[in-house]
This record gives sequence, C-alpha cells and structure tokens, in this order.
Amino acid sequence: MECLPAKGPVSPHLPFGDQRSAPFYGKDILSVKQFTREDLEYIFGVAHEMREMVARVGSFDLLKGKIMASLFYEPSTRTSSSFLSAMKRLGGDVIPINEVRYSSVSKGESLPDTVRTLECYVDVIVLRHPEVGASALAARYARKPVINAGDGVGEHPTQALLDLFTIIEELGRVQGLTVTMLGDLKYGRTVHSLAYLLSLYGVKINFVSPEILKMPADILSQIEEKEITGAEFTDLDQALPETDVLYVTRVQKERFEDIAEYEIVKNAYTITPETLKAAKEQMIIMHPLPRVGEISIAVDDDPRAAYFRQMEYGLYVRMALLAMVLGKA
Ligand code: CP
Repeated sequence: MECLPAKGPVSPHLPFGDQRSAPFYGKDILSVKQFTREDLEYIFGVAHEMREMVARVGSFDLLKGKIMASLFYEPSTRTSSSFLSAMKRLGGDVIPINEVRYSSVSKGESLPDTVRTLECYVDVIVLRHPEVGASALAARYARKPVINAGDGVGEHPTQALLDLFTIIEELGRVQGLTVTMLGDLKYGRTVHSLAYLLSLYGVKINFVSPEILKMPADILSQIEEKEITGAEFTDLDQALPETDVLYVTRVQKERFEDIAEYEIVKNAYTITPETLKAAKEQMIIMHPLPRVGEISIAVDDDPRAAYFRQMEYGLYVRMALLAMVLGKA
C-alpha cells in the first residue's frame, strides 16, 4: 500500500479570492460518474456566465497568477487548444507539452514522475493519454487537480460536459429528448461518457452502429440501471425521424487491432442533405470532431448542424471547470 499525500490545497494560505468551500475546489475531473444532476446544473450555470463574460469582455483576470500544464500523449486540436484558450481568457498561463517525444517521457520517464514534476510548477494538470485509467493514476500521485482530457477508449468527461451544455444551450432542455448516437460506439470514448451523463436525465437513447462497433455491454447496463429507454440499430432509418439530437462519431481507425476490420466499417454511415430529409425541422446534429467523411460538408450550412458551435461551447465549459477546480467559481 503506497502512502501518498492527501489531495487538496497544497498551501494552508489561500491566495486572495480563492474559495476553499467552492464546489470542486482542488478536485480532479476524471470521470462523468463523479457528477450528480446538481453538479451539472452548477457547472452549466458557471459555463453560461463564462459565455456571457467572453461575449462582453473577451478575457478577464479570474485566474491571474495560476498556471496550467497541458500534457498530451495523444494528438488533439480542440481539447488542447480550448483548454489553452480557456486558461488565457481567464488571465492564467499555460505550459503546453503537446509533443511528449520532446519531453523527458522520451527518456522513459513514468507518468507518475512526470505529473509529480509538473505539479512543482503549475496549479492544475490537463492530461490526455492513450491508456484507460491514466488520468486516475496521475491523480493518485498529483496533489494538484488533474483533469482527464481523454484516456484511451475510456472516458472524455470534459467533452461529455460540453456536449450536454451544447444540447441545453441549443434546445433549452435535456429531459424528454431522443438522442441518437451513430457510428463507432465501441471505441468512441465521447459517447461512453455522454451516454452515462444522459442517463441522469429522462431521455431516450438510440444506438446505431455496425455490429462490430456496438456500445459496450457494461455501459448499456449502467444506463439500464437508471431506467433509460435505449434501443440498438444497425440502420439509421428507423431512429432518425424521432431524433432530437443526432450525435455522429468517427470510426476510430487508431483503436483497431485488425486494420481489415476498419476497412469494412470505415464508411458505414455518411450524413448528407438527403439523409436529413427524414429528420425533424427542430433537431441538432452534433459531432465531437474531427470528422473524416461521416458528415458531408454539404450539411455544414444546415442550421441544424451544431458541430462547429459545439466546439465553442467547449471553451466556456473548460473555463468553468478551470475556475472551479482552482477555487474561483
Ligand atoms: N473532440 C476532441 O476531443 O477533439 P480533439 O481530439 O481534437 O481534442
């Protein structure tokens, strides 16, 4: 049994303005399973305020003097740059380590040693790693908050939070909606996290995927425990007409052990303007991005295409999370 220092504020002297009693102060963000409905309402309230503040003043000094490490062992455009932008818009600073091959990781440094190094210099660590559970491991060793920015095929909790925030900002509610998840439901960590968060609300979820890319059984049983209505399909046709949120995902080539299997399913679905003729007038199409052909660019000008707006909502959610774990919200 290892003896590690307790997670929490490192200094007994809180900098001016830090709210030790604030929800999430000093906490890790590792999994969507840590959140209650009340937590989500709180996060989305703060994110909404961040949206208004950015519209009004662009940047402000809420996190002045705070530093974030952005430690990415896997490629990223949106998550890494939105966290970086979030920190800068809040007046904080960033140590970006996006190319771990140029860091001491290339000399064989372990993840625990890397986070113990970084926390000497920063106040919060944002981590993306190819292995499931890597963020939880990092959090065990770090005294500063660790935010999971994606751990292999495991979870992507900040993406799921921004996805839910997108639905609320775009449609005004979650309760009572029908959400259809389409594509790679086996390897897509964003849908794993989102399915769990949606299960906290009274929604219907349709899972549409090729046979070999079905939603893992453990996630299906978790949402069934919450008495959520769910149905599985291989064709979108049956599910689309009742859909309020069509959540499209990329087939994750990098997760396949057998590339021949990827070749069979890579073009399983393509959303085009023709496809959307069967969809409601009032619905939204989401995608965590990047896309590689599963949504035709001809769909981009459709007002129902919310995937570019979804990226912007991610900025506000990540601003909220940073402010919260650093005791400023
Ligand atoms: N949605 C998402 O995680 O995108 P990136 O891989 O570009 O961060």
